[in-house]
Amino acid sequence: MRFTPLLATTFLTVSSVSANFNIASLNINTLVGNDLGPDNKYGAPIAPWLPNHKPGWYIGHSPTHYPELPCLRGFICRVLAFFPFHLQCPTPLPPPPPPPTPPPSDGYHQTFSNLTGATQAADYLTFGLVDTVADCKAMCNGVTGCDFVNTYHDVNGKGGSTQLTCSLFSQCHDASDADNVGGQTQADGTVDFITNSDGFCKDS
Ligand SMILES: *[C@@H]1O[C@H](CO)[C@@H](O)[C@H](O)[C@H]1NC(C)=O
Repeated sequence: MRFTPLLATTFLTVSSVSANFNIASLNINTLVGNDLGPDNKYGAPIAPWLPNHKPGWYIGHSPTHYPELPCLRGFICRVLAFFPFHLQCPTPLPPPPPPPTPPPSDGYHQTFSNLTGATQAADYLTFGLVDTVADCKAMCNGVTGCDFVNTYHDVNGKGGSTQLTCSLFSQCHDASDADNVGGQTQADGTVDFITNSDGFCKDS
């Protein structure tokens, strides 16, 4: 009989597979050094709360510390793959996602929020109207000695403006100084009051 190249290739492939299978099926327990089948509790027949228990396997980077245990990494994994009912090497989990990075600081920390009183203190520097808290902080950054901003709505005040009042100070203040609650009668007869009062101190 004359082998065609195709048949010869097929023959070689089949024989190499069966050679692998024969090697592995000789004795899986001898190959991996422990009986990793389910009947033997995958190498650890005695539960860990009972006397004389021993671990059945090791996973890690120090296999030389546990020469008596099959290390479920590397070549042994390819052998175990022939025995689907025996213990298999674990598929490593994906690395944990990196921790979320906090948003970059704007250089201020909040000392109080949403009070109904505005800061009144002797270290007052100036005040104006702004659209946003960020604009008030930016303003403070440009005023010499400014270390604290107080933003709030002066309802009925400031000519009826709905913008934020931005009040700047040279020292930090907490809620205890936010005691200007309005109460000033306006030209139109209304009385003003304070809402949404927030305080922000520059980080040292
Ligand atoms: C601020 O306080 C008022 C009551 O004074 C409340 O209605 C509002 O929901 C608060 N806002 C926030 C953002 O907490």
